[in-house]
Amino acid sequence: MGVGRRSLVADGWALVVDHRGSVTFAMASFSLAWLSIVGAVFLLGIRAAANATLPLSMAVRHEQWMALHGHLYPSAAEKARRLQVFKNNVNFIESFNRAGEHSYTLGVNQFADMTDDEFAAAHRPCVLGGGPAQSSTVGSKTSLKNKNNTAVAPPPAEVDWRAKGAVTDVMGQGNCGSCWAFAAVAAVEGAVKLKKGKLIRLSVQELVDCDTGGRDQGCAGGIMDNAFQFIIRNKGLTTADSYPYRGNQGPCNATQKAHPAATIRGYGDVPRDQASLLRAVALQPVAIGIDNTGPTFRFYSRGVYTGPCGGIVHHAMTAVGYGATAGGRKYWVMKNSWGTSWGEGGYMRIERVDGGAGICGITYMASYPTT
Ligand SMILES: *[C@@H]1O[C@H](CO)[C@@H](O)[C@H](O)[C@H]1NC(C)=O
Ligand SMILES: *[C@@H]1O[C@H](CO)[C@@H](O)[C@H](O)[C@H]1NC(C)=O
Repeated sequence: MGVGRRSLVADGWALVVDHRGSVTFAMASFSLAWLSIVGAVFLLGIRAAANATLPLSMAVRHEQWMALHGHLYPSAAEKARRLQVFKNNVNFIESFNRAGEHSYTLGVNQFADMTDDEFAAAHRPCVLGGGPAQSSTVGSKTSLKNKNNTAVAPPPAEVDWRAKGAVTDVMGQGNCGSCWAFAAVAAVEGAVKLKKGKLIRLSVQELVDCDTGGRDQGCAGGIMDNAFQFIIRNKGLTTADSYPYRGNQGPCNATQKAHPAATIRGYGDVPRDQASLLRAVALQPVAIGIDNTGPTFRFYSRGVYTGPCGGIVHHAMTAVGYGATAGGRKYWVMKNSWGTSWGEGGYMRIERVDGGAGICGITYMASYPTT
């Protein structure tokens, strides 16, 4: 990379051009000229067209990626450093996909300029008290609240709560460890829809700002059961429209807090096995904790995710269905809060193996609200 690299700066844009062939360099120069004339939007179109015929240098791909995700760096030095990280990630993603031996593929998504450590620091603290997923101890609190689902049998072969209109649009949590609030709210939205027949987008931000009396800590993480407890105590949650998501923690808006739009009566923990989770998800969307520290998790693009992953719950999502591929591979459908450009339109299908606790700790912290 060091040899034959050249930096160009124009109109505040630093463009690092990698000389891996005269064609590539000519393309970049051509693009640079256009950049000063017609701006980045038009440029993107030209590059997209070029993309179809020419392999683009990593620097040009980084430029495209920056434009797509609206990234600008404070300095040329920072940009050069980010380009290196981007290049390492793209190489990792492409070699994983080229190996062709996995049931899922990776994509160069919005996390492509972050190192593993940076990603972990930004996203890991979002579920508190995750503990080891392999733990077999079930506390009295858990068993007391267990809903006896054994009478609901047999569950259907597949369920998709999205198709039943019980799931709101995927959002992005941004730079805030609020996955616990997103996971809890999606489960409540589903429960309310099933009870009232109406899908109401509820406020994640209210949990982030107002659920601070107990263990939940806004953007520094929380627990879905605590979120359910807050909603019960508060006699409901207001709508997302009246208390919109900001992605940072601020003072609780007491006016909004006093105007709930929907409520729940209680909540239950799903026993830590996949058969129980299946019965629970057959009944309604379920908030789940998950280990998302595997190196491929953040770049998941499509297919059925099979790990590798650890067994400590760091992240939360909402199980909104399950099914099997034509090839017979069984999966859970998880709604994430990393925006729609991550995964399958913001969702992840993750492997559902027979029996046991499942992969990535998905049965460790599964719970659902009752209405
Ligand atoms: C759950 O329900 C089934 C069927 O009604 C019953 O046989 C079983 O004893 C119940 N289990 C618990 C733990 O209540
Ligand atoms: C709280 O929400 C109300 C209603 O939207 C708004 O008028 C008010 O300005 C908000 N208060 C604060 C402190 O943001």
